[in-house]
Amino acid sequence: MSENQAPSSGSGRLNTGVAHNARVWNYWIGGKDNYEVDQAVGDQVAGMFPVIRDVARADREFLGRAVRHLVEEHGVRQFLDIGTGLPTLDNTHEIAQRSAPDARIVYVDNDPIVLAHARTLLTSTREGATDYIDADVHHPEGIIERASATLDLDRPVAVMMLGILNFVLDTEKAQDIVRQVLAAVPSGSYLVLTHPTTDPDLGGEGNVAAMEFWNENATPPITARTRAEVTAFFDGLEFLEPGLVSCTQWHPGTASPVTVPQFGAVAVKP
Ligand SMILES: C[S@@+](CC[C@H](N)C(=O)[O-])C[C@H]1O[C@@H](n2cnc3c(N)ncnc32)[C@H](O)[C@@H]1O
Repeated sequence: MSENQAPSSGSGRLNTGVAHNARVWNYWIGGKDNYEVDQAVGDQVAGMFPVIRDVARADREFLGRAVRHLVEEHGVRQFLDIGTGLPTLDNTHEIAQRSAPDARIVYVDNDPIVLAHARTLLTSTREGATDYIDADVHHPEGIIERASATLDLDRPVAVMMLGILNFVLDTEKAQDIVRQVLAAVPSGSYLVLTHPTTDPDLGGEGNVAAMEFWNENATPPITARTRAEVTAFFDGLEFLEPGLVSCTQWHPGTASPVTVPQFGAVAVKP
C-alpha cells in the first residue's frame, strides 16, 4: 500500500513514518495492508530471525484450529478477540460462523489501520453479530463494558489474546488484565492465548536480538516471556489438552508440526 492509498480512518492517527506491529504482522503473513517502512523493518527482523514468518503464519493457523475446536467441540458461541490484527482471509467471525451462524464476535485493537479496515470484520451472518472496539488492552474495564453491548456476559465467552500480552511490558499488569477480563465472564468461559518466548526448548533465543531491534525501530515495544510467566496467565483456569505448547503443536491434525517460539494454549474457567 502506498501512502496515497492510506485508508481514511476516523482516528486520524495513521503514521506511515514508523513501522507498526499490525502492519508488519500483515506483511509477514503475506498481506498487502502495509507500507515501505513496515516491509523494511519486517525484512530486517526476518533477516535476523527467519522463523518469524513461520511464527506469524503458525499463530493464525492456531487461531483457526482453536476457534473451530471451541465452536464444534465445546459449543462456544461468543468470542472477545483482543488484539485482532488486520483482517486476513479467514477471521474469527468467519471461522466461528461457518460452523455456528449464530456466533457473536467482538474485535478489539488500538491500531488506526485496523480501525480503518474494521468494516471487513463486521460482515456478520444475519443470525449472529460482530462489533469492533477501538481500545487499548491496558484498559480492560472499558473493553468489557463496550463488549457487553454485543456479548451476553452471563453466558460463556472465549477471550482471545493472541500475540497481544507481549505488548504489555509489565508482567504484573499483563496478569492483572487477564484476571480482570476473565473475572467479567462466567464459568465455562475460555482463555485462548499465544505469546512469544525466548525459551531455548522452543528455539526462541533469536527473539532477543530481534526484539531489541524491533524496540529501537518500530512500535509498540514488545517483550517475550518464559514458559513459567506464560503459564501464570492461566492461574485459576484448567488447560485443555495438550496444555501450553508451541502453537503449531496444539491439535495439529495430521501434519507433523515444526516447533516455533510462540506458545499457544486454551484453558477453561471452572
Ligand atoms: C501480533 S498482532 C496479532 C494479531 C492477531 N491476534 C493474530 O494472532 O494474528 C498484535 C495486534 O495487537 C494490537 N495491539 C498492540 N498493542 C495493543 C494495545 N495496547 N491495545 C490493543 N491492541 C494492541 C496490534 O495493533 C496488532 O494488531
